[in-house]
Amino acid sequence: MNHFCLLFINYIECSLFRNIKMEFRKAEEGDLALILELFEANVLANTDYTEEQKEIWASSVNNLEMWKGKIKDNFFLLAFENDKLMGFSSLGPMDYVDMMFVQKDEFGKGIASKLLLNIEEEAKQYDLSQLYADVSVSARGFFEKSGYHVVKTNRNIRKGIHLKNFRMKKVL
Ligand SMILES: CC(C)(COP(=O)(O)OP(=O)(O)OC[C@H]1O[C@@H](n2cnc3c(N)ncnc32)[C@H](O)[C@@H]1OP(=O)(O)O)[C@@H](O)C(=O)NCCC(=O)NCCS
Repeated sequence: MNHFCLLFINYIECSLFRNIKMEFRKAEEGDLALILELFEANVLANTDYTEEQKEIWASSVNNLEMWKGKIKDNFFLLAFENDKLMGFSSLGPMDYVDMMFVQKDEFGKGIASKLLLNIEEEAKQYDLSQLYADVSVSARGFFEKSGYHVVKTNRNIRKGIHLKNFRMKKVL
């Protein structure tokens, strides 16, 4: 079954997942404002990074061309509940889970799990046997629960500020 079929099934199924009715579809450029709003609110609400670190992390909202490129070139998946954007995730080039963000007031409802399941199904369509992700301190526990393990600790320096995260891997 190709990924359009899988997405279509997900889109129409309105599956009950931990009592949440969610719909999934691929992002389009017109979704950019909603995506950036969720991303910025999520990052600024984070309690594992300093204000300075969060400002640098969130400042990527200014790089519109980068986001448009990700939407156009990647498998960029949105999750909605009653037309509200609840989260998004993307499969980047090759075997890389590039994004995973959930509305800051909607954690713990299974949204990321469902998104990741879709991303992993998509990866399997391309016969990928493993996935990598660079994962924040905050998301490490979620990815561990989803079967990923830490390969190394990354030392990202942006504008002179250290942003710690982890390279994680899962064999599919
Ligand atoms: C990490 C994140 C994506 C998880 O989203 P979520 O929708 O709350 O996750 P789920 O509800 O699907 O959680 C699935 C399971 O993982 C667990 N889990 C979720 N976040 C966890 C965490 N930080 N640490 C440990 N376990 C976690 C849940 O308890 C749940 O376990 P259960 O199945 O035993 O009940 C979300 O908290 C988030 O957006 N965090 C901040 C942004 C971020 O850092 N994104 C990643 C950038 S790489």
